[in-house]
Amino acid sequence: MKKPKVLILKKLPKEVECYISEHCEIMDHSDAETHSPEQLKLLIADAEGLLQSGVRIDEELLKHASHLKIVSNISVGYNNLDTTAMKKYGVIGTHTPDVLDDTVADLVLALMLAAARRTVELDNLVKQGGWEKSDESLFGIDVHHATLGVIGMGRIGEAIAKRARFGFDMNILYTNRNRKPEVEEKFEAQFRTQEQLLRESDFVLVMAPLTAETHHMIRKEHFTLMKKTAIFINASRGQLVDEKALIEALEERLIYAAALDVYEQEPVDTNNPLLTMKNVITLPHIGSATAKTRFDMAMMAARNVVAGVTGQVPLNIVPELKS
Ligand code: DGY
Repeated sequence: MKKPKVLILKKLPKEVECYISEHCEIMDHSDAETHSPEQLKLLIADAEGLLQSGVRIDEELLKHASHLKIVSNISVGYNNLDTTAMKKYGVIGTHTPDVLDDTVADLVLALMLAAARRTVELDNLVKQGGWEKSDESLFGIDVHHATLGVIGMGRIGEAIAKRARFGFDMNILYTNRNRKPEVEEKFEAQFRTQEQLLRESDFVLVMAPLTAETHHMIRKEHFTLMKKTAIFINASRGQLVDEKALIEALEERLIYAAALDVYEQEPVDTNNPLLTMKNVITLPHIGSATAKTRFDMAMMAARNVVAGVTGQVPLNIVPELKS
């Protein structure tokens, strides 16, 4: 029997590739880092399944994908999927929730600690032979017993709140579309309006999905509400924050520091002023980047794509496309 064709645009571990090839014919185009829209239109023409990470799936592409049944994201975020267009063309979309929660939460704690205790800046100081004295010029800010404000209390937000509450005795504030009584009970977390949260938090963490509503949800007026000693952390999507406003807030010392894993443009422009600021930690979008977690994500995405092209219902359909 003819196997369904699956287009693969992201390098996969051998074991994951073997699993897919048991059920599907693989069209492997994972060597190129990116493909132009024109290349994608040609590649997608025969495919019944597409396995990728971050490739924009919109009506313009779907028009050229007459056999396509499923787009499987190797990521929990799915802002690359135009779910309205996918609904119109009857294409399923899946993502990889849960398996990365603890790994991303670990990284957020690393960002908080690094910014508060200035570990990157001071590591550089020591390596460059600049350690001449041990006075207040090396002081940082305490993480333990401080107040963490989480904007977006989803699964990853909860994993962070757990570490912050039980590992660092932090007080947890949160905003979310819905109040979460179980989170309030487990972590003694307190619900706040966004404005209250921004005013009261020592660490302000954005952990929300990127949608039309959340795009630039943090702007200049929000930085002006934060404490001058606040540390701002973003490990979800760069477009949640007006990056120009963040740069201004740091230049004008409206906040103490920022720790970022994501940017409005990725890879980040090498001329971006954030890259020259000593009080900004800049990581290259590595929230889920450990070997085990990336393997688990790839395998989950593979199971989803195989299910989608073989007439089964994939386990991880994105909420907007669930029937
Ligand atoms: C995710 O899974 O959404 C991570 O941010 C990687 O894109």
